Amino acid sequence: MIAPIYILEAMKILAIESSCDETAAAVIADGRKVLSSVIASQIDIHAQFGGVVPEVAARSHIEVVIPVIEQALREASTDWNDIDAIAVTRGPGLIGSLLIGTLTAQTLAELKHKPLIGVNHIVAHAFAANLTDTPPSFPMLALTVSGGHTALTLYQDDLSAEIVGETQDDAAGEAFDKVAKLLGLPYPGGPAVSKVAADGNDTAYPFPHAKLRNPLDFSFSGLKTAVLRQVQQITGVNPGDLTIPKSYELEPQVLADIAASFEKTVVDTLVKNTKLAIEQYQPASVVVGGGVAANKRLREELSQAVPGAIFVPPVLCTDNAAMIGALAYQMQKRGRVTSPFELKADSSLEVL
Ligand code: KG4
Ligand code: ZN
Repeated sequence: MIAPIYILEAMKILAIESSCDETAAAVIADGRKVLSSVIASQIDIHAQFGGVVPEVAARSHIEVVIPVIEQALREASTDWNDIDAIAVTRGPGLIGSLLIGTLTAQTLAELKHKPLIGVNHIVAHAFAANLTDTPPSFPMLALTVSGGHTALTLYQDDLSAEIVGETQDDAAGEAFDKVAKLLGLPYPGGPAVSKVAADGNDTAYPFPHAKLRNPLDFSFSGLKTAVLRQVQQITGVNPGDLTIPKSYELEPQVLADIAASFEKTVVDTLVKNTKLAIEQYQPASVVVGGGVAANKRLREELSQAVPGAIFVPPVLCTDNAAMIGALAYQMQKRGRVTSPFELKADSSLEVL
């Protein structure tokens, strides 16, 4: 453990994120104020493949990482002298993508003589709540719902974590992406499904809720299969047919009804488990973050079911570097700073 960094003026952290298909950099003051947040999205590149292609993602990170960092410094009206520490996502994520961010951060930390903080991407999705007007208190229950992760986690003041419920198969965002694909909607699936669902009847297709041994756990793979079977039944495609299409063409109203019924099932499950976890653990605060937390319906229903829940602002729900800086600030306050040579990218980094 290295001692915390004491600074009289606002402490400014330059944060870098490159775990998946967004290259991002941000400058954060005192872990609370976003001075700049630059995101170079690769969505257009990957959309043609219907999902993220790891090699393509890594190559694209290499091309833009330095310009993105320079832009973040410029937009925050800072230069290297003003930066007190560098933070970077060290996992989980695609290893090729993570390595571009970590190697860049390690090199810069060494070159500019700055302390380095290696951050867990999933934990950062929850700690993005510090960038709102009401910073959370501990014990903090976090519902983190993203493309690769869905869990209910209880965080204590020392940043220790206990996962109290998690998905046993697909993440919520993954379910949105896969259902979007089979409905012929573009990548990323979440916003696309949500958009067509707005005109649909959410009770048209009562999809099943998974029943699990731990009632706080999640499972979305059965739901995805139920949607597939429903679509095959409507279109008359025989599941045993060798010429099964990858995506199905549906009448606009049927498409909207299926999307709405699917979205309702996912949201109901997330709300139900969150309420149950609150009853069981009585947290001092509840935060909701990760890409799927940008979902309008989830935000509406959870804010009704859990008054006082802190929602990460939609722009900070999907991948960004501001959340990395927010968590890094909390980590350095607790002495969790690494030397540039010790930091290691870890594609399957655990929350705990
Ligand atoms: O947190 P994120 O940007 O990346 C990961 O860490 O995975 O989350 C991306 C996921 C994708 O699966 C995307 O479809 C989903 O978040 N997503 C949404 C919405 N916006 C993004 N899902 C539902 N509704 C949305 N509005
Ligand atoms: Zn993420």
